[in-house]
Amino acid sequence: MARSLETLQKEYNAAASASVKQRHGPGGGGGRMNATNTMVRPKAAGETIRRILSYVAEFKGRIALVLACMLLSTAASLAGGYVLRPVINGIADVRVPAAQRVAHLGVMLGVMVGIYLVTVLGTFAQSRLMIGVSRSALQRIRDDLFTRLEQLPLRFHDNKTTGDLMSRFTNDVDNIGLMLDQTLLSLVSGIITLVGTLAMMVYTNVWLTLITVAFLPVFVLGSRFIISKSRRYYTAQQAALGAANGYIEETVAGQKVVKVFNHEAACEEEFNLLNDDLRGKQTRALFFGSITGPVMGNMSQVSYALTAGIGGALCALGRFDVGGLAIFVNYARQFARPVNEISQQMATVFSALAGAERVFQVMDQAPEPADSPDVARPDKLEGYVVLEDVSFGYVPEKTVLKHISLYAKPGQKIAFVGSTGAGKTTVTNLLNRFYDIDSGRITIDGIDIRRLPRDFLRRNIAMVLQDTHLFTGTVRENIRYGRLDATDAEVEAAARMASADGFIRKLSEGYDTRIEGDGANLSQGQRQLLNIARAALSEAPILVLDEATSSVDTRTERLIEKGMDRLMATRTTFVIAHRLSTVRNANAIMVLENGEIIERGDHDDLLAQKGRYYELYTGAKELA
Ligand SMILES: Nc1ncnc2c1ncn2[C@@H]1O[C@H](COP(=O)(O)OP(=O)(O)OP(=O)(O)O)[C@@H](O)[C@H]1O
Ligand SMILES: [Mg+2]
Repeated sequence: MARSLETLQKEYNAAASASVKQRHGPGGGGGRMNATNTMVRPKAAGETIRRILSYVAEFKGRIALVLACMLLSTAASLAGGYVLRPVINGIADVRVPAAQRVAHLGVMLGVMVGIYLVTVLGTFAQSRLMIGVSRSALQRIRDDLFTRLEQLPLRFHDNKTTGDLMSRFTNDVDNIGLMLDQTLLSLVSGIITLVGTLAMMVYTNVWLTLITVAFLPVFVLGSRFIISKSRRYYTAQQAALGAANGYIEETVAGQKVVKVFNHEAACEEEFNLLNDDLRGKQTRALFFGSITGPVMGNMSQVSYALTAGIGGALCALGRFDVGGLAIFVNYARQFARPVNEISQQMATVFSALAGAERVFQVMDQAPEPADSPDVARPDKLEGYVVLEDVSFGYVPEKTVLKHISLYAKPGQKIAFVGSTGAGKTTVTNLLNRFYDIDSGRITIDGIDIRRLPRDFLRRNIAMVLQDTHLFTGTVRENIRYGRLDATDAEVEAAARMASADGFIRKLSEGYDTRIEGDGANLSQGQRQLLNIARAALSEAPILVLDEATSSVDTRTERLIEKGMDRLMATRTTFVIAHRLSTVRNANAIMVLENGEIIERGDHDDLLAQKGRYYELYTGAKELA
């Protein structure tokens, strides 16, 4: 059965409403997710605009050039308009001989062409410069967004869809760009034009100016009304777009599962809901965005007609010259133009503001808390790991690990076994501070890991995660991810240790075979071997293998064990495995149940205890 639109929006747009809040207290770091309603109200526009502008502010020099070009072209354009007055008055002056009037007209037209040429060149230069500035600003925004994304704690992703995040990087950032390209220029040139035109109007005729200006409040109030109405729709539109993208991304990634369970129809139904919602919101947003221009345009026509009528009457009474009236109505039209232009771009502005809010929302998430002030900086770690009465929960309501205590030293192999969901992976998540513990203490070489710089800590723990991940690139590059300065020979040695060398050499281009789409062209077991090779390449004193060989046949597993023997001899190794034969030779086996260590000891001890491990082991034997 398909889910309702409301549920879908909540789920695929979580990032729009959730926020990572800094958690205080002895735990130090981490954060908690707060999911609220997805229909977010737009923030104060001023604040968002200021923030967008702060990205442009950096290019002060170029902006100054843009302004100079703008002033030049606007001044030229105003002057060009004014030249029309002597032209018309000269032509209309019957006292001067016709030939002389035509000659004068020729000269004046030449002057006008010159002036307008300046306008054109100025406009050209300013838009070229401005596009450069806006693209650089966008680059910085994307950069900041990406940097923040890399700094965010894993917790941030606990309830996010990739598609919605992608949408922020693409659509939302693009919208900001459109505004910077068009609206900012129009706005500034509009203001300059407005002031310049006003000055020229006052200079030409004060009374007619007053009539034109009297219409200004109507404009302002009118646009205010429309703006307040439509911004909400733009915010909703961008959120709907994010939700739709989130859904698409997930469906594409999970296409196999969709097909296995014949979910195509339900997927389509759910997508239709999101798509329809997006259409509705886009229509409303665009409608309000687009009526602003015409409404303002029509209002300015009224003021324009009124000015022309009264000006004409003044001319008839002999109180004003025809040339003056001609340029005045021209100015009056020009006066309304920036107002129209800007109001026509409201659609762009709203999309940009809504997009910017979504971008800044991610940027404002608290990063992984900074390293503690009394940070310890040992040269290297030996690998003496101690957990003292550690408790932890991903969410405050639910404690996942309860009072875990254990120690491990270099050369030892500590295994975690236990049923699914017992908390095995969670223990490893705490070791390298993917999450910070709630109570207790974890030390390495006697130093609390909260006092170790995160990058240092993680450099010292090589992990094969339960979910394998490969990046687009060659096999060699993927293994080298474990230690970037490793030589080709070292990469190959690591691959041999992980028993990956054999299959790699059989690939079409050996170590230079490209891996695409998270290793879709490899078998699940082969992906695991590459992940193991990656960890084997690292020189970290602590090694964590979370179900590292779960998809590998038992014979290969033995080979890996043999291959890694020398490596493990000097390291502290944590192994998690459901296949108990994998952990048989561990120095200590911890049996986890519901987040507690219920039994511990080596294989023989545990079998002798005839407890949970015995059950697991003999159960597995019986099944086998
Ligand atoms: N990111 C998370 N947010 C909230 N709860 C989580 C998260 N990851 C795991 N849990 C919960 O923590 C508990 C322990 O999970 P963990 O991944 O440690 O189990 P595990 O022992 O590794 O299981 P498996 O054998 O299936 O890998 C589970 O009940 C799970 O629901
Ligand atoms: Mg696990």
